[in-house]
Amino acid sequence: MTALSPVLKQATPITVEYGEGCYLHATDGRRYLDFTAGIGVTSTGHCHPRVVEAARAQIGSLIHGQYTTVLHRPMLALVERLGTVLPEGLESVFLANSGSEAVEAALRLARQATGRPNVVVFHGGFHGRTVAAATMTTSGTRFSAGFSPLMSGVHVAPFPTAYRYGWSEEQATDFALRELDYVLTTLTAPAETAAFIVEPVLGEGGYIPGNTRFFQGLRERADRHGILLVLDEIQTGFGRTGKFFGHQHFGVRPDIITIAKGLASGFPLSGIAAPRELMARAWPGSQGGTYGGNAVACAAALATIDVIESEGLVGNAAERGRQLLAGVRARANKAIGDVRGLGLMVGAEFTTPTGEPDTETAAAAQRLAVDKGLLLLTCGAHMNVVRMIPPLIVTAEQIDEALAIWSAVLDEL
Ligand SMILES: Cc1ncc(COP(=O)(O)O)c(C=O)c1O
Repeated sequence: MTALSPVLKQATPITVEYGEGCYLHATDGRRYLDFTAGIGVTSTGHCHPRVVEAARAQIGSLIHGQYTTVLHRPMLALVERLGTVLPEGLESVFLANSGSEAVEAALRLARQATGRPNVVVFHGGFHGRTVAAATMTTSGTRFSAGFSPLMSGVHVAPFPTAYRYGWSEEQATDFALRELDYVLTTLTAPAETAAFIVEPVLGEGGYIPGNTRFFQGLRERADRHGILLVLDEIQTGFGRTGKFFGHQHFGVRPDIITIAKGLASGFPLSGIAAPRELMARAWPGSQGGTYGGNAVACAAALATIDVIESEGLVGNAAERGRQLLAGVRARANKAIGDVRGLGLMVGAEFTTPTGEPDTETAAAAQRLAVDKGLLLLTCGAHMNVVRMIPPLIVTAEQIDEALAIWSAVLDEL
């Protein structure tokens, strides 16, 4: 009998019958409040009626219009529509399927456009599981161990992870920028450095927001040295942080952004956006793929953007995010060393009384929450951060429902 790979572990024991809004309904009849949103994907909720309708309508007319063979309407319409939400100046779009693919497309473009071999990534970043993306991932060795040799040309500089260092945000930022200069002096010369690749908020790495001075520092160094600034908005994009893109909190201009997850409400669709003149420097033949820009996924993405705008989901993410962060902070007991987040990305970091990462208690909290009907995930290098990523349609009452369960979990730990 065939079975799923035993390595593909699930964070919950649930088999889903169907999803509706912020809830997943299991085959055993139980209903769960889903604060995982498919790892930040189903931002419009499960099976939003307008997304379902758009996908259904598209399936009846064209499913796969292979985009290096033909063009099709949903893709052209989506590219045009993206122009209304993308940061100014990023008017050229390449579409793919997964986040990892988008990150690799950004890497290829940066290397080809600059003619430089190296990139700098930031410690704790997660950029995906394909070999190049895994090489650039430093949020845990589990993502890159055992299949070396990895890709060459990747150097790592610190991210301002203030809590881990036991410093203020200011001190951590000074350190991160100083070390970045040191990396550019000792490991990869600016003239050999194609790009800085960085998340606005470390996602898999522990839900750690960057800050304005850090990103301004990256921009300033990128400009000074002709290095491209690639912002990985795969988890932080499409309203998740309470602004349309996460970097907009920090007033920084990206040269390339990567998008996926919240873009298409669960259909596999990703992409990169860059200025036309920069995108044109990608080498002929270096962008393509069998499934990229799938017609049904593009139709779903168009409906997703409509829903985000017409239902005011970016504003809702900001407001409900404040409610969630305040609620988790107010309930933090001594098992929790830090609570942080931006918009609807909220993390509670479990630490032992001596300040060490407490993986076991975080895992126990996540399991207990699931038992009580609230789906959560863990993240961070030590998997000791419980993260909450509800759909952007979440209501004040649903946040209260989640907080009540979270209180019960903390009482029972
Ligand atoms: C910031 C970021 N980049 C890249 C990826 C990789 O995306 P995918 O799993 O679709 O390849 C993820 C996925 O979690 C992510 O959060």
